[in-house]
Amino acid sequence: MTSDVYRAVREVLAVRQFRDQAVPEEVIRRILEAGRLTASSMNLQPWHFVLVQDRSRLRELGGLVPTGPYISEAAFAIVVAYDKSSRFGVSDASRAIQSMALTAWAEGVGSNWTGFGGLEAVRLWCGLPDTQEVLAVVPFGYPRAARVLGHKKRKPLDQVASLEHYGRPVEGT
Ligand SMILES: Cc1cc2nc3c(=O)[nH]c(=O)nc-3n(C[C@H](O)[C@H](O)[C@H](O)COP(=O)(O)O)c2cc1C
Repeated sequence: MTSDVYRAVREVLAVRQFRDQAVPEEVIRRILEAGRLTASSMNLQPWHFVLVQDRSRLRELGGLVPTGPYISEAAFAIVVAYDKSSRFGVSDASRAIQSMALTAWAEGVGSNWTGFGGLEAVRLWCGLPDTQEVLAVVPFGYPRAARVLGHKKRKPLDQVASLEHYGRPVEGT
């Protein structure tokens, strides 16, 4: 039997095209909660999440992330920032993004990671203090196209994992 978590990991794909359909507030709340509940180094939770739902603001936000113009079409987006003084901020905030993406996917909501730091314009736009660095903007929404299971393109396991010593194949997994 496949676990729900493994199924979500296996099936989740980057979604860049969204249907014009609102996501229920309780689902949005669960996605944010998934970020909040994520484990972080020394449990310091150095993140801040800015939820953006207003359509005109989503359009503005799409214009601020060069690699994510489709944010403007999303049902909502979450700006993910972390405390610049945190040595583990990138790692902690990345885990929170993964928690939110998987929680969303399990609800039928697609998402994608856009940007990777250097998003000072986004920080200023949403009023985050300069103690914070914006790591990414994550747009969410119901996927426009039904993505096919098994469509995922990844390196085979023997190229990315070894048993006991590098180069010894892991079999039977
Ligand atoms: C750290 C990171 C940064 C990313 N940045 C962008 C981005 O700026 N724009 C974008 O469209 N996709 C971005 N992506 C999405 C990746 O391109 C995507 O996850 C990868 O191609 C695998 O896609 P798939 O899961 O649909 O196979 C990023 C993903 C990660 C993990």
